[in-house]
Amino acid sequence: MSLFNVYPLFNITPVKAKDVYVFDENNTKYLDLYGGHAVISIGHSHPKYVKNISEQVAKLGFYSNSIINPLQVHLAKKIEQLSGCVDYQLFLCNSGAEANENALKLASFHNGKKKIIAFKNGFHGRTSAAVAATDNAKIIAPVNAQQEVEILELGDLKTLEKVLAKNNVCAVIIECIQGVGGLDESTAVFYEGVDALCKKYNTCFIADEVQSGFGRTGDFFAFQKYNVTPDIISIAKGMGNGFPIGGILIHPNIKASFGLLGTTFGGNHLACVASSTVLEVIEEENLMQNAKEISAYFIDKAKAIPEIKNTKGRGLMLGLEFDFPIAELRKKLIFNYKIFTGSAKNPNLLRILPPLTIQKKHIDIFFDALEKELKT
Ligand SMILES: Cc1ncc(COP(=O)(O)O)c(C=O)c1O
Repeated sequence: MSLFNVYPLFNITPVKAKDVYVFDENNTKYLDLYGGHAVISIGHSHPKYVKNISEQVAKLGFYSNSIINPLQVHLAKKIEQLSGCVDYQLFLCNSGAEANENALKLASFHNGKKKIIAFKNGFHGRTSAAVAATDNAKIIAPVNAQQEVEILELGDLKTLEKVLAKNNVCAVIIECIQGVGGLDESTAVFYEGVDALCKKYNTCFIADEVQSGFGRTGDFFAFQKYNVTPDIISIAKGMGNGFPIGGILIHPNIKASFGLLGTTFGGNHLACVASSTVLEVIEEENLMQNAKEISAYFIDKAKAIPEIKNTKGRGLMLGLEFDFPIAELRKKLIFNYKIFTGSAKNPNLLRILPPLTIQKKHIDIFFDALEKELKT
């Protein structure tokens, strides 16, 4: 059987990894400034993570959601403690798309409406409603296109109010910092305006924190820079440090009932231990503070490079914008300098999404390589 060929691959085969480094089968070492697409939060193969997951799998890896699972309760308490999102309720699933799919479905159950508003250049995943709310016609199949979605310009409060006033919108879904789209972020006036309008028109405000959440921006959630109270917050990526887990935090105003949402694998024992361990390590190693400090160091170094036209993003969710497409540069960084970075929908943007454990010495390695390459 062959693999369904949907991914253009780099000719690299990682076989092991440790903290911010990935090693291929020849033991060649790569500096990971991509984190497997913002997934690796506490570093590859963190000893506490390996120990806790190994011990849990030896005890009980999985049982269904029809029994009591104290590990879910523990995870919910830990997320509440670190995020400060007090009294929200947690529903667990397995990925970012699934988190957004459940968020949109729950919003629609809650207020009985069915139209979704999303924003230009946003990305919310590849399941039915989530992909319909994603601004990329190429990945929306006819079966998804039946969803009622309107995509607005980021920052356009006027049109948003006009659409919300028709009173048929169940949810506004937004990434406070766009990931795949290219690190764009609007203003406090906009995000706080979205929040206020959603409350005025009984529409759910969904903060998609799948990529920006779990400490990546230096705050637990990117929206916390603003004075907003999302009805639903979707999470995934950094949540499991590579173990597949996603979830939604649900405001106490939204009430649960049996059967409203459900999943076989979501919230399983191993996933809960993985995610609780991520939170413990973030706390013990002060990784949100580290994200802020290393970010400031990175941004400072970027200023000294004239080819960099703009540095975007916050914390360790960063983008370097050039005035040329970065595809070749990215390849050179991988193959000549052994450094993984990311791309974006914006072809001129090099994305930097390292583990939150990264140190200044690793940033120095990157900028030395970048300067050398830009001189060639
Ligand atoms: C903001 C955002 N939402 C949702 C998703 C979808 O997550 P997943 O690939 O886990 O389904 C992504 C993935 O890149 C994302 O960046």
